Amino acid sequence: MNKCNQSVQEKGMLSQRIQNIDFPVFGKIAAFARDKDVIRLDAGEPDFPAPTLIKAAAVTAITADYNQYAPVPGLEELRRSISAKIEAREGVLFEPLSQITVCCGATEGLAAALLAIVNPGDEVILLEPAYTVYTPDVLLCGGSPVYVQLSPPEFCIEKHKLEEAVSPRTKAIIINSPHNPTGRVYSHKELTIIAEFCLQHNLLAITDEVYEELIYDGGKMERLWKIPGMEDRTIIISGFSKTFSVTGWRLGYVAAPAKLSRGVQLAHNYLTVGTAAPLQRAAVTAAQMTAEYYQQLVALLQQRRDILLDGLRKVGFECRCPQGGYFILADASRFGWQNDWALAEYLIKDIGVAAIPLSGFYQEYPQDNPVFLRFAFCKREETIHAAIERLQRVKLKNIAERRLEHVAL
Ligand SMILES: Cc1ncc(COP(=O)(O)O)c(C=O)c1O
Repeated sequence: MNKCNQSVQEKGMLSQRIQNIDFPVFGKIAAFARDKDVIRLDAGEPDFPAPTLIKAAAVTAITADYNQYAPVPGLEELRRSISAKIEAREGVLFEPLSQITVCCGATEGLAAALLAIVNPGDEVILLEPAYTVYTPDVLLCGGSPVYVQLSPPEFCIEKHKLEEAVSPRTKAIIINSPHNPTGRVYSHKELTIIAEFCLQHNLLAITDEVYEELIYDGGKMERLWKIPGMEDRTIIISGFSKTFSVTGWRLGYVAAPAKLSRGVQLAHNYLTVGTAAPLQRAAVTAAQMTAEYYQQLVALLQQRRDILLDGLRKVGFECRCPQGGYFILADASRFGWQNDWALAEYLIKDIGVAAIPLSGFYQEYPQDNPVFLRFAFCKREETIHAAIERLQRVKLKNIAERRLEHVAL
């Protein structure tokens, strides 16, 4: 070993920041499923095509040599279209240039938002189960995540739990609705609890609304940022991945008051300089889609949800009907498994269906919580039917195993 390498080793190659985080549950499950005959209900990515219109717009942009850097905070036409869509829906104007930033997915939007507001030592409240990006992002910013655990099976927001988590160092809270993985859409009452909490303790709120278009059974998407007093202190994260079935395009955006947006735009500038220019052109077409597109998408996904829900229940899982988003959270207690990872591995290896263990959404999974798996229904109907058919065997195999266990005892 030469002197230079030695000193690098002594110093520690990797930063504390990086040593404190790990890859999320999704990659681990995907790696375990790789090269096996597995139906993938683990990933929140559609296996059906994206809308022809927006694919054509992307092709046109590339063919027209729209290949150079877009403006760093996003193509002006795209930011105007996003702003117009929000205004038409919600009656709230976000000034396109100073209040909207186009990012490489909601994922980069979250990182840029946290970089813009979190100082080392600041605490950020996360509601568990929490989407897997929140904790690492807070840590990468030098902040400390503070967890509030939502109780199954309702996973409702409770005021007293928030009050127990707050401290003079609390800077912000992150919420996510429709919620991954529970499928909850927070009610106006729950959002009012959050708003009062933020106002009382002078906190910022980041609201992750990537599934905002996917609300089922005629439900309503309530908005934290429309509650009086929250307009100045809420950062909205959303994107195109889920609404247009283009998770690989990496297109998201942040909408926030101008002062906060300036911070987001600075962070975004140095993180990525911007998302793919021709895809931003295609996103203009996406942002201008008519109401009919959204209605069809919701009807299609609701139907897939119902097929999977019915199938999982028949197999023996206990499931709440998700109000929004891509996922069903299935309580597997009846099968007698103590550990959701073991169950997920068994499903992949022996049954041929991949799902995500809920403990992957926790820092420490509460011991008295049931064993849950998250199944994605953003899939073709035949994919879901094939998965349900395979899952029938879970019940039989476990009955057989439990009989054997009984005999062994
Ligand atoms: C709650 C939540 N937020 C953000 C994201 C990331 O979205 P994007 O693809 O826009 O980065 C996901 C993706 O699964 C998600 O479930």
